[in-house]
Amino acid sequence: MPDDGPLDLPTGAANARNGLFVAFEGGEGAGKSTQVRLLCEWLAARGRPVRATVEPGGTPVGAAVRAIVLDRAHTGLAPRAEALLYAADRAQHAHAVLHPALEAGEVVVTDRYVDSSLAYQGAGRTIPMDDVAALSRWATGGLRPDLTVLLDLPPELGLARARGRAAADRLESESLDFHQRVRETFRALAAAACERYLVLDATRPVDELAADVRARVGALLGVPA
Ligand code: TYD
Repeated sequence: MPDDGPLDLPTGAANARNGLFVAFEGGEGAGKSTQVRLLCEWLAARGRPVRATVEPGGTPVGAAVRAIVLDRAHTGLAPRAEALLYAADRAQHAHAVLHPALEAGEVVVTDRYVDSSLAYQGAGRTIPMDDVAALSRWATGGLRPDLTVLLDLPPELGLARARGRAAADRLESESLDFHQRVRETFRALAAAACERYLVLDATRPVDELAADVRARVGALLGVPA
């Protein structure tokens, strides 16, 4: 797939907007949705226009895609089909939510983004990383988070937390080895671009993690934490 298709914006232009784009990443049961909520509540209380969103399923079309990818009945879903479904969800999310909200100057906080595809479809399903990256770049027009918060957790702990909440979905049902590859990939992506990442030990208490997130996001926005 060509990298410079019509949807690819020139470098820099993809991030030329007024808002701030923050992504939360991590394995199952890492506490992403709690931290997204706490950050958005804090920003809203300080009068910042803020939008919490999620992948997969941040749009009505995405909700339909989410139902397909998480359904345990779909045991035969091919890795490439899975990668395309997540990319389709992301393309719709970027088009309908991310780009418009950022252009309107909002702080956009998403629960999962491109790194999840690199970790799960790339390292997990072993699709070449460059292909997964190119697919996401094409889907989003090259939109990159200003900050990615990685909530890092040993997968055995995270899976136990997630399974305590609900029956395991199709991805949660994968092997420990799969989830270990996912974790290592998240950590490697963060290590390769540490200025755009905040890596937190997700075994720490929720309020301590939230304070660290506020400190970093507050610094980016010029809001005292
Ligand atoms: P979800 O219930 O949202 O899990 P969590 O609460 O852990 O975020 O399910 C999303 C699942 O989809 C999760 O197992 C990770 C997986 N996923 C991918 O495999 N690739 C992707 O690009 C994304 C966004 C998610």
